[in-house]
Amino acid sequence: MSSTTLTPVAQQWQTFDLLLTCIIVANEAGQIEWVNSATQNLFERSRRSFIGATVASLFEDKESFQKAFDTIVKRRSVSVAFSGGIAKFESTETVNAVMHLSHDNIILELHPIEQQALSERSIRLARELEIYQETFRNLAHEVKNPLGGIRGAAQLLELELENTDHQEYTKVIIAEVDRLQQLVDRLIKPAQSGLQLSVFNIHEICERVFTLLNAEYQGKITFVRDYDASIPDIKADKAKLVQVYLNICGNAAQAILGAKEAIEQPKIILRTRILHRYLLLDKIYRMVLCLSVIDNGPGVPANIVDRVFHPLVTGRANGTGLGLSLAQELVRQHGGLIEFDTVPGRTEFRVLLPMEDSHE
Ligand SMILES: Nc1ncnc2c1ncn2[C@@H]1O[C@H](COP(=O)(O)OP(=O)(O)OP(=O)(O)O)[C@@H](O)[C@H]1O
Ligand SMILES: [Mg+2]
Repeated sequence: MSSTTLTPVAQQWQTFDLLLTCIIVANEAGQIEWVNSATQNLFERSRRSFIGATVASLFEDKESFQKAFDTIVKRRSVSVAFSGGIAKFESTETVNAVMHLSHDNIILELHPIEQQALSERSIRLARELEIYQETFRNLAHEVKNPLGGIRGAAQLLELELENTDHQEYTKVIIAEVDRLQQLVDRLIKPAQSGLQLSVFNIHEICERVFTLLNAEYQGKITFVRDYDASIPDIKADKAKLVQVYLNICGNAAQAILGAKEAIEQPKIILRTRILHRYLLLDKIYRMVLCLSVIDNGPGVPANIVDRVFHPLVTGRANGTGLGLSLAQELVRQHGGLIEFDTVPGRTEFRVLLPMEDSHE
């Protein structure tokens, strides 16, 4: 950049703050002059901490990156692509980096590969879930009506039976019909009830669930709270969010306790964060609330990982497979989404809720 430029660097590049793509502006020596907000989010670092550092220092394989960078500077190539890991505060992530030569500056775009795949997967899952739920709900309605008839007929039959031994059979019919009735009601219910909105602090919910979990799993699992106390109040249906959070935390606890090999130091972290300018389904929100439940259990079984949100899909012998499908539906009613990633030893379910109605 010419030294006579009076425009401050920040002013020159600040429109990039509007983008979701991570942008880094460097000089030909490879020093960072500016980064946009998306880059700060990705690296979980402040803008100031980047300025003056070398771009290569952001990458795990600094040498290979430097080679790609030199190509663009020396050969005056218009753009060069590079894929590699970036070093974040607590973890690493793979990105596709595209570098462009613009006058005396090199402009880098970073596209985190996982994030891209995750957001595509979330959209696909949410659409699939809607189709499944409608199919199941229609089926449930069809099943519900005859159930009443079967139960009534079994009761009448029971009165007519002289041999009380045979009443065992009618009792089985009635008990099984009742079980089916409950299942059918749970499948139909979520769509029927609207949202009861109120304004509250999200940590009220977290604390309530934390107390319930501690009472149920005391001595077996350690629950760790990691809250961002500065999160503003949210407008939502409190009872429904408690239900969502309990479902997710319950799953984490059941996964830990049901693991084939005992988990050392079983732990569940309840984390709250705000994500800025976040793409949720197909809209960008200024602020999105992220409620994470992180467990160190065995992970979601591989054979159901693509279907966990579908109704009646369970990996547990005594599970009904309705918890996550219901939770996802309740969060969708709030305009949000539940997403997750899982590997043995670390599973994170994230409830993402937009903090405002308006979006860009
Ligand atoms: N944190 C987790 N770790 C490992 N597996 C999980 C986790 N959360 C969910 N699962 C898997 O996803 C399945 C579906 O969960 P879901 O809550 O929908 O049903 P469920 O827990 O089996 O039954 P229900 O909640 O209706 O009693 C679970 O059975 C379990 O196999
Ligand atoms: Mg469950």
